[in-house]
Parts: sequence; C-alpha cells; structure tokens
Amino acid sequence: MPLTKYFETIAQQTETWLDQLVPQEDAYPPSIHQAMRYSLFAGGKRMRPMLAVAAFEAVSGQKAVGTERGAVMPFAAALEIIHTYTLIHDDLPALDDDELRRGKPTCHVRFGEDMAILAGDALLTLAFRILTDLQLFKGIPAQTVCDLARETAEAIGSLGTIGGQVVDLEYENTTDPDPAILEYIHTHKTGKLIAMAVRGGGMLGGAGEDQLSSLTEYGRRVGLAFQIIDDILDVEGDEKLLGKRTGSDKRMDKMTYPSVSGMKASKEKAVDLIDKAIGDLEMFAERAGPLSDLARYVAARTL
Ligand code: IPE
Ligand code: IPE
Ligand code: MG
Ligand code: MG
Ligand code: MG
Repeated sequence: MPLTKYFETIAQQTETWLDQLVPQEDAYPPSIHQAMRYSLFAGGKRMRPMLAVAAFEAVSGQKAVGTERGAVMPFAAALEIIHTYTLIHDDLPALDDDELRRGKPTCHVRFGEDMAILAGDALLTLAFRILTDLQLFKGIPAQTVCDLARETAEAIGSLGTIGGQVVDLEYENTTDPDPAILEYIHTHKTGKLIAMAVRGGGMLGGAGEDQLSSLTEYGRRVGLAFQIIDDILDVEGDEKLLGKRTGSDKRMDKMTYPSVSGMKASKEKAVDLIDKAIGDLEMFAERAGPLSDLARYVAARTL
C-alpha cells in the first residue's frame, strides 16, 4: 500500500527543514557533520514526521499541506533527528552489530565506531537545540514549547526509548521469554517516540486533555504494532525493500513477537492493535483520515 501525495509532501518538507537545521558537511569539523548527514539523508520513511503533522492537522483543522507548516515542522525535523540517532547507536557493534541501514553501510561501518557514537550524540543534542528555539516555533506559546521539549526528553530517556533498549539487550539469549517484558520492550524502545510524535503534533495544534489522551493511546498502539511488524519483517521481509539485513534478531537471539507468540498470533496482534488505534480517533471524525491511513499503512507495510 503506497502512501499518498499528502505524505510524500510531508517527507519532502521534512527533508528541506533537516537540510536547513543540520550543519552543512563543510562546517568544521567536517568529519562529524558528514557522518550526521550521511545517516539522516540515507533514506528513511519519515514516518514520525508524518504522524506529527497528521496529528497537528487533526487537532487544529489547519490545512497545512502545501503551506509552510511553520508550527509543526521543527518538531517533525527534531523527531527524525532523534530517530536517526537511535538507529546509529542501535546498529553499533556493542548493540545489534548491524552493517546495513537505509540501504547503505551503517554509520560505524562507513565512518568508524568512534565517529558513529559521536554522530549519534551530536544528533540527539541538536534535536533539543531545535526544540528549545522559540524563533522556530512562531505563534506557539512558550509554555507549550517547553512542555513539548520536556515530554520529548521523558519519552526517549531511561524511562522511555532507552529503557526499552536496555531491556531488549538484557533479554538477548533469554531462557525465560516473558510476554509482559516483551510488551514493555516494544512499547518503550519504539512506541514511546511514535506516541510522542502524535502527542506532540496534537500539543502544537492546541489539543485539550481528552484529545491528547486519545492521540497518545493511538500512538501507543500504532507504536507497538509498528515494532511487532518490524519483528515479522526481520523474519520474512525483503532486504532490498527494507534496506537492512533480515535475520538480525535471530542472529542476536532477541526476544521478539514471532519468537514468543509465533508468526500467526503476532500478525493477528498487530492487526488488532491497528483496528483499536483507528477506534481511538473517533472524536476527530473526518479530520482523522490521514492518521487512520497511517495506521493502516503500518499494518500493511513491507518496508
Ligand atoms: C526502524 O524504524 C527502527 C524501528 C523503530 C523498528 P523505521 O522503520 O521507521 O526506519 P526508517 O526511518 O524508515 O529507516
Ligand atoms: C530498534 O529496534 C528500536 C530503536 C532503534 C530504538 P530494532 O533493533 O528491532 O530496529 P532495527 O530492526 O534494527 O531497525
Ligand atoms: Mg535493537
Ligand atoms: Mg536493530
Ligand atoms: Mg528490528
């Protein structure tokens, strides 16, 4: 199921913003900026920006496609910068030890492990420089910008993404697979940032509390489904489409949905989560169209 022009436009606009926000390759010292930009512009679906923009529009009713989208784009770019840092570090020899990402040699293979660690650090730092720049968030109350930065930090820290990555590592080679721990891993290492994308888009769009909690629940379910499908694609996906090696989870003896529940139950669980996620959008009526489309895309994705 290909994504429509609407989503392609968001991906293109994200790349334009990234190009402006990330130091150019010749900025001194060039080695780090080359490594940062190499991984950022290697490809990537730009799904977190799509979720953020779609949530912003569902809440605000502002038709932002084809416009500057000033209010939400710096956030969308920061999400993609954070996501790229997690991928660079996830691929390091000390973690998943992967050699291919977004169809290219991983950052550490291309630039060395030292530079890949620093490129990840620099991307993460840059994201918060962007998130705290009030000039970039024109028209958004300073309190909202501050809340957004704080919540993003919470989502990706040791109680969020990093926590999920820690337990993911600790359960390699486990002799005691545990479905509750597996759900913790997936909702944290992947779900927290995805939920934050949707919630943050809503915050910038001026969402009230019940809108935010519906968006967060939608994001949690889509995020969990996204990682279950990632596990499934690691078993039966096509390396060329994915741009990363399959069989990586088996090689590292990871605890995954297919390894714990079997392939059939994993697929059913993903479909069920997506149905429920679409149900979470009820209050947004027809404005939820793009978020529903993205949820369906996650269920059907092959890359
Ligand atoms: C890959 O994320 C890592 C996971 C969280 C499973 P994506 O599948 O969104 O990767 P890109 O950004 O398209 O490369
Ligand atoms: C990674 O999960 C999630 C994060 C990067 C935080 P995986 O390790 O399964 O992602 P891939 O398969 O390498 O993209
Ligand atoms: Mg990993
Ligand atoms: Mg990995
Ligand atoms: Mg994976």
